[in-house]
Amino acid sequence: MAEIVFGFGTSHGPLLATPPDQWDLRANVDRKNQELAFRDGTFNFEKLYELRKGEHFEQQNAIPVRIERDARCQKQLDVIGEKIAKVNPDAILIVGDDHHEWFLNDIQPTFSIFHGKQVFNRALTREEEEEKTSRGNGYAMKIYYPQKDETYPCPTSLASHIVHNVVQQDFDVTAIGEQPSDNGQLRQLGHSYGFIYRRVLKSRPVPLIPVMVNTYYPPNQPTPKRCFEFGRAIGRAIQSWKGNERIAVAASGGVSHFVVDEDMDRRLLDAMLKGDHKTLMAEPDIHFRSGTSETKNWLVTAGILAETKLKMDLLDYVPCYRSEAGTGSGMAFAAWQ
Ligand SMILES: [Fe+2]
Repeated sequence: MAEIVFGFGTSHGPLLATPPDQWDLRANVDRKNQELAFRDGTFNFEKLYELRKGEHFEQQNAIPVRIERDARCQKQLDVIGEKIAKVNPDAILIVGDDHHEWFLNDIQPTFSIFHGKQVFNRALTREEEEEKTSRGNGYAMKIYYPQKDETYPCPTSLASHIVHNVVQQDFDVTAIGEQPSDNGQLRQLGHSYGFIYRRVLKSRPVPLIPVMVNTYYPPNQPTPKRCFEFGRAIGRAIQSWKGNERIAVAASGGVSHFVVDEDMDRRLLDAMLKGDHKTLMAEPDIHFRSGTSETKNWLVTAGILAETKLKMDLLDYVPCYRSEAGTGSGMAFAAWQ
């Protein structure tokens, strides 16, 4: 029987690759954003500032505070990297979301699992790099994508078994057999996966099972309850596999961003720590919008790990503010061991 031997969760995002005194590059993008999602409202930057000015984010956005918080994040990314290197799993199943990397507007599956032979994290073309850099993501590109193409093998038989088994458990998951391409050019591996390979695994080609959750794009995002239960089904599927692989699972992305919501982050992380599944599933769906939607990747992962005896340890939760309106990222780092 395959065994889930380790789990972790990590935020990903541009701030984790950008020097703290340069976070304004992203804040400048926030200032132009007319659709900043916060709880059940949508605001432009000025309106968000009006709403939250009593929380005095200018203090938390000061450069020395940013530097201290960035150091805490980098430390935990190193800690998780050391832990996973020590565990040395046979494969890693990463729960992430596709940010219009493999899936575009033509098709967007609610849940999908890759079961092909390998995935390529290819270097960006010059046009792609220019396009992404223009969105204030310059530093992030270096940490998601390699200078030279990288290949990560995938455990096809196990991944196919998981797909089949979760379908037997009534989850109509999309099976991806090949990395999508356009005119022979492979679409870029999503940064949910690239971040973990480049920053946490240091490009070691640990066999990968990418699980993709459409957290972002209307109209078919799964509910929190469905995410958690999908995770449980994956956990059971892995444990019903006849092989004896040692598997690690990981959540990539979240928690709240581009508007930080510490209350929500702490409520959900606390529920995960306590195994309070009811609270996790009861969080209103409207709270999971925009970047914050990626917190659903954590719900799936918590569901997988609820099928094991592993215990969650919250390594750190670091609210990283990049503007006076409370934009930025709630950064969470956890290990299940
Ligand atoms: Fe993301």
